[in-house]
Amino acid sequence: MTTDYLVIGSGIAGLTFSVKIAEKFPNKNIVIVTKASEDESNTKYAQGGVAIVSNKEEDSFKKHIKDTLIAGDGLCREDVVEMVIKEGPERLKELLLWGANFDVNDTGKFDLGKEGGHSEYRIIHHKDITGYEIERALLSKAHQLPNISILPHHFAIDLVTNHHIRDYNSKKLTCFGAYVLDQKSGKIRTIKANSTLLASGGIGCVYGHTTNPVIATGDGIAMAYRAKARIKDMEFVQFHPTALYEAKGESSFLISEAVRGFGAYLRNKKGYRFMPDYDERAELASRDIVSQSIDSELKKSGEAHVYLDCTHLDMDAFINHFPNIYKECLEHHIDIKADWIPVVPASHYLCGGIEVNKKGMTTINSLFACGECSRTGLHGANRLASNSLLEALVYAHNIYKYQSEIQCKSVNVDIPDWNDEGTTITKEHVLIQHNLKQLQALMRDYVGIVRSNKRLKRAITHLDLIYEEVEDLYRESKLTTSLCELRNMINVAHLIIRQSLDRFENKGGYYNMDNVKH
Ligand code: FAD
Ligand code: SIN
Repeated sequence: MTTDYLVIGSGIAGLTFSVKIAEKFPNKNIVIVTKASEDESNTKYAQGGVAIVSNKEEDSFKKHIKDTLIAGDGLCREDVVEMVIKEGPERLKELLLWGANFDVNDTGKFDLGKEGGHSEYRIIHHKDITGYEIERALLSKAHQLPNISILPHHFAIDLVTNHHIRDYNSKKLTCFGAYVLDQKSGKIRTIKANSTLLASGGIGCVYGHTTNPVIATGDGIAMAYRAKARIKDMEFVQFHPTALYEAKGESSFLISEAVRGFGAYLRNKKGYRFMPDYDERAELASRDIVSQSIDSELKKSGEAHVYLDCTHLDMDAFINHFPNIYKECLEHHIDIKADWIPVVPASHYLCGGIEVNKKGMTTINSLFACGECSRTGLHGANRLASNSLLEALVYAHNIYKYQSEIQCKSVNVDIPDWNDEGTTITKEHVLIQHNLKQLQALMRDYVGIVRSNKRLKRAITHLDLIYEEVEDLYRESKLTTSLCELRNMINVAHLIIRQSLDRFENKGGYYNMDNVKH
């Protein structure tokens, strides 16, 4: 298959870019491959909303910029922060035009929420299912454009670069598309593209306990790494403070930070409200601080979770703003009106990823990255809540603008088909499951909220063993999604551990007991 634009992923990043470029060039083709159903993505589960300055009487770009820089703990790229925040209102206008609905109050203005690290109410939301609404609107817009083809259940395995092409003599590493597994037929297709966009999302599933859906296995980052793109800031894994705790199994349902913005308190088992002891902003300190504080409370008490107390809040208003959280808790036999919600931190977001410049260009020619798989410099050492959807919107626009100006040229290369000679269908699914559990336990126990050099070094030793076992299986087996995902998660884990060992000061979401805070 040949296309002008190949987009890997159908969340906010991939869809926003596709819609824009498809409208600009009706004669060019956009192929979106996505490994599950077309709407499955982290985007679909976003709750709190999008951080955008809309109320200029109370709020300002300056305040949002300051909040982002404070959360990022000195490691944000200031020019990027300024660019992203100032572009927010323009990108919001487009979302509205494409049919996304956001809550408004009685005066017709946006009903703004608040989250940790924000000095003002500025979170634009649709109840507590903002991501679902954005994904709905973007897909509906994409379906109206005949030059966009969405291929669900198509898993991108690897990028095609110079390494795959005999006699290609350009010195500059270039991407020519990707090898893609059609998950229904089991066939591996070669998709040749003039421009490839990685919009493949996050890595939450590298840790067993995560707020992310099962698709978040870091595939794009692993593919880019294997293709030799530069990957940065992988040590900054963000743990969300309040995932719903379940004694049996590992719940991944998120209790939005906007609930604390609405006035909920964090309490330990004794009922003590501990956050004011850790930070003057209490429950609304930035996410790194709240997660580290909960971790410290749990270590002191030996308990498995803390509580989120909403019982003092105006319940009618609460249920109106958070109907989904209210319903989900009831399904878990928690009545928010009377019961405290048991919560525990869980892996949530990756601040690092594939390094890109302001145009979304990676260090490989014709390869762009956008959204959670990319590292733009916006988040520094810790992302400010609800800045992620905003970043994806702004960078999708920047990539679109750049590509409209340069119009990617077609390159005449002969890409060999995927070679799976000598491989057989594996009967060893148990090995994949076992290695996956080992990997997730390793990351939870040794590479979690609080790290140490000893744990990180032990993690590398154990990871190397898992790596060898999985590479063996990979060499001899016909590819399956679960095998490829496991291999990708191992690559991502390796990057997180290695880059953690290279950081000698504690910043934002990175805390190593052997380092001192600067
Ligand atoms: P995604 O939306 O994750 O999309 C990635 C796409 O790539 C998916 O379609 C996936 O199937 C596809 N894909 C992945 N690998 C492959 C492959 N190998 N082949 C083919 N397709 C592939 N951020 C905010 O700003 N505000 C919020 O309120 C908020 N709430 C959140 C709540 C939850 C529970 C979670 C999990 C995240 C939240 N975030 C929030 C973070 C935010 O949702 C994500 O960072 C953002 O949606 C990422 O968008 P994306 O387009 O980069 O990736
Ligand atoms: C939330 O609603 O708490 C998630 C917000 C985010 O991750 O930005």
